[in-house]
Amino acid sequence: MCGIFAVVNDKSNQAAQTTLIGLKKLEYRGYDSWGIALIPEKRKKIKVEKHIGKIGQAETKLPNGNIAIGHTRWATHGGVTDRNAHPHLDCKKEIAVIHNGIVENYKVIKSNLSNKGHVFKSETDTEVIAHLIEEKSKKVPIIKAVFDTFNSLVGSNAIVVLDTNTETVLACRNGSPLVAGIGNNQFFLGSDVPAFLKFTNRVHFLHDGEAVVLSKKGVKLYDLKSGNEKMLNAQILDWKMEDAEKGGYQHFLLKEIVEQKNTIPKTAKINKPALKTISEKIRNGYKIVMSACGTAYYCTLAAKYFFAQLGTESETYGSYEYLPFTKFANKKTVFISVSQSGETADTLIAARAAKKQGAYIVAVVNARGSTLERLADSTLSVGAGPEIAVVSTKAFTAQLSTLYLLAHYAINKPEKGISKIYQLGKSLEKWINTKLFTQITKLAATLINNEDLYLIGKHLNYPASLEFALKIKESSYIHSEAFAAGELKHGVITLIQKGTPCFVLSSNDEAKDEVLSSAAELKARGGKIIGISPVKSAEFDFHIKTLDLGDLTFFPNVIVGQLLGYYLGIGRGTDPDKPRNLAKSVTVK
Ligand code: F6R
Repeated sequence: MCGIFAVVNDKSNQAAQTTLIGLKKLEYRGYDSWGIALIPEKRKKIKVEKHIGKIGQAETKLPNGNIAIGHTRWATHGGVTDRNAHPHLDCKKEIAVIHNGIVENYKVIKSNLSNKGHVFKSETDTEVIAHLIEEKSKKVPIIKAVFDTFNSLVGSNAIVVLDTNTETVLACRNGSPLVAGIGNNQFFLGSDVPAFLKFTNRVHFLHDGEAVVLSKKGVKLYDLKSGNEKMLNAQILDWKMEDAEKGGYQHFLLKEIVEQKNTIPKTAKINKPALKTISEKIRNGYKIVMSACGTAYYCTLAAKYFFAQLGTESETYGSYEYLPFTKFANKKTVFISVSQSGETADTLIAARAAKKQGAYIVAVVNARGSTLERLADSTLSVGAGPEIAVVSTKAFTAQLSTLYLLAHYAINKPEKGISKIYQLGKSLEKWINTKLFTQITKLAATLINNEDLYLIGKHLNYPASLEFALKIKESSYIHSEAFAAGELKHGVITLIQKGTPCFVLSSNDEAKDEVLSSAAELKARGGKIIGISPVKSAEFDFHIKTLDLGDLTFFPNVIVGQLLGYYLGIGRGTDPDKPRNLAKSVTVK
């Protein structure tokens, strides 16, 4: 939540414009408001520009200068107003602060500072940080004032401080992501790499308890508790600028849906040593427990069926519901945490709890350098590249294909899994085409004015229906609700009236006949039946033909939901890349 960007020694001497470019890449992290603080050429007083709403096509009128910080906000404390937008300043306007996280003890700090005469302009927890640094810097150098201030904050936070006197940017991390970019004589900070990927792919992901100071001379790394300087070993990422660009597509969401024909088969090439290590544990009797939130949770639900089909037992929990069950984790548990960002607060809490019990932690992540990756014993980095749209698509399918592979490794049949995933990639390559898009846009046009859609599926198509429904909700704001087909007669069927759109997800499998019977029951009550299936059926009023790939039909069935959500969103005037009220990484409980 919230996007952070900073540049020092900007080559163009247009640091505000550079910051705006960076913030546009981070808008997926929060789009309630945005703001920039800059040290103008030859002046000591900071200049600030702030606006509510999305950054979109915004331009900045800030003057020239080579050092600036910027922020996109996902509001926590204080409403969505210009005043509450970051950056926030101290009383003398010599220090500007941007922040990602929640300062849990801000009220106490604020009241102490008010008693000392500090005047606050916003309702945010962030503003207290600027004033506390100002107060402390009366007695100690700015670097110590910033570190001491940060160490006194309670909660998960990342802060970036612009100091006019030293012309430096100081940043600290505890719990919220922060990455430094080391360019050619210009230096950057971002919540995520795409923010500065245009300028450099040489990075250092800050760990919790680390700080960096960016000056004209370079980037220095510090340990926050001791204040001592540490060795900075930057790494070069293989990400390319195109990965973070729309590449001719109108939206990142559509680009990322289409990319799945490449990102899914890529998972069969990577992670081989880690898959081997984890699968050996499973074969040695370790019990699999999975945990995740949202889409990633549905990924684990689907994986549970994949494991079961191949004879391996597993459990899964929404991470936010895991704590009552933590006591059952032990040294013989493989605890698989699935998270695109690796920063989801509830997912981290569950993984830490399992680790405390002695479990072996596996992180299935897409973003790089995350907190989850660092706390895990083993990482399956699924390699889908930057996922910019807030709605998760390619990260979800790459995570699931990775777990599909793990299920095969666990029974010592990796080659079978690998070849099926390659085959899936080839089939998707042919199937994701104009014909499919035309069919889905036609379907979207018939559904555009509906406010309620229902979905059913059985076995693997049950988690597929859940994920399908979530994509519709997120992208188009239509209420869509998925049920296990078997639940239908136990209450759900009362919701069906003449013309109610009912999606029936099925595969060419043992559950097909039962799902089609449920479809007939829906149809008998007037339901309009939309079949998402490789096989045509008389019950379907509308049919989107998917791929007949056995258990892997899950993937095309879900991709129809991703695309339908996208086109419904476009038709209803939403922004499919940035659905209202959502943020890409949910770093608060
Ligand atoms: C939906 C979506 C969310 C995330 C959830 C967990 O499209 O993206 O439901 O899946 O917030 O996020 P991660 O995977 O970052 O832990």
